[in-house]
Amino acid sequence: MSRVAIVTGASSGIGRALAFELARRGWWLGLCARRGDELERIRREIESATAGARVETSALDVTDTARVREAIPELASRLGKVDLLVANAGVGGERFAGDDRFAVDEGIIRTNLLGAMATVDAGVRLFRASGGGQIVGVTSVAGFRGLPGHGAYSASKAALAVYLEAVRAEVEPGGITVTTLAPGYIDTPINNHMKSRPFLVSAEQGAARAADLIERGVRTATVPVFPWNAIGVLMRSLPDFVWYRVMRTQVAPRPRE
Ligand SMILES: NC(=O)c1ccc[n+]([C@@H]2O[C@H](COP(=O)([O-])OP(=O)(O)OC[C@H]3O[C@@H](n4cnc5c(N)ncnc54)[C@H](OP(=O)(O)O)[C@@H]3O)[C@@H](O)[C@H]2O)c1
Repeated sequence: MSRVAIVTGASSGIGRALAFELARRGWWLGLCARRGDELERIRREIESATAGARVETSALDVTDTARVREAIPELASRLGKVDLLVANAGVGGERFAGDDRFAVDEGIIRTNLLGAMATVDAGVRLFRASGGGQIVGVTSVAGFRGLPGHGAYSASKAALAVYLEAVRAEVEPGGITVTTLAPGYIDTPINNHMKSRPFLVSAEQGAARAADLIERGVRTATVPVFPWNAIGVLMRSLPDFVWYRVMRTQVAPRPRE
C-alpha cells in the first residue's frame, strides 16, 4: 500500500522537485498550487515516468484560508488515507521599511505565514480524524535572524517556525509528527535573480535531502543539513555589532525616496 503525501506549492521549485522525488520513492501525491494547468502537466509527467504513480491535483490559493480548510480534505478524500502534508507554498519579495510598497510585505505574510498556518491547521484536523500523520512546514534560514531588505520574509519564516513549535507540542501526543525544514539556498525561481546564493544546491538535490529528513521524521532541520546547521548556529550567536556590520555591507541601503 503506497504512502500518500499532499504538497502545497508543487507547481515550481522545491515543491515540484519534491513531488518527483516522493513519486520515485513510491508515494502517491496530492499536489496544490494556484497554477492548476502547471500541476496537470506535472501530474502527466510523473504518471508517465513512474510506474504505479498516482497524482491528484487541486488549484488552490493558500491565502484563501477558508478555501484551504475545504480543499485539503477534499483532495485527501480522492487519495484515501493521507500520511504526509507539506506546507511548502511561499513567495519571496524585497522591500525596505518605509517605502511605498507595503503591499509586498502584506502578500508575503498572507502567503508564507497565514497560508501556511491554514495548511497546517487543515493537516491537524485531517490527522486527528485519521489517527495520525506527519505535517511538514517549510521555513527558511532567513528566519533565523532579520535580513535587511527581506524583513517580511524573515518575519514570516521566523513566525512560522515558532507556530510549528507550538503546534508540535500540542499534537505530538496524538500521533502527529511536526517537521520544520529550513532550506538554505536552493536553485528555484524564488531566488534566481539574486547576485549571491552561497552553498547553492539544485532543486533536485534539495528535494532529495528534504525527502530523507521527512522520511526520518525529524523535528527540525536545515536543508541541506550541512553547512546550514553550522551557519544557523553562527547566525543566531553572532553579537549584534558583527551582525549589523555584515548585513549593512552585504545589502546596500536604497537611496531615500
Ligand atoms: N529556494 C530557496 O532557496 C528557499 C530557501 C528557503 C525557503 N524556501 C521556501 O521554500 C518554499 C518553496 O519555494 P521555492 O524556492 O520552491 O519557490 P518557487 O519555485 O517560487 O515555488 C513557490 C511555490 O509556491 C506556490 N505558491 C506561491 N504563492 C501561492 C499561493 N498564494 N497559494 C498557493 N501556492 C502558492 C507557487 O505556485 P503557484 O504560483 O502556481 O501558486 C510555487 O509552486 C517557499 O516556502 C520558500 O519560502 C526556499
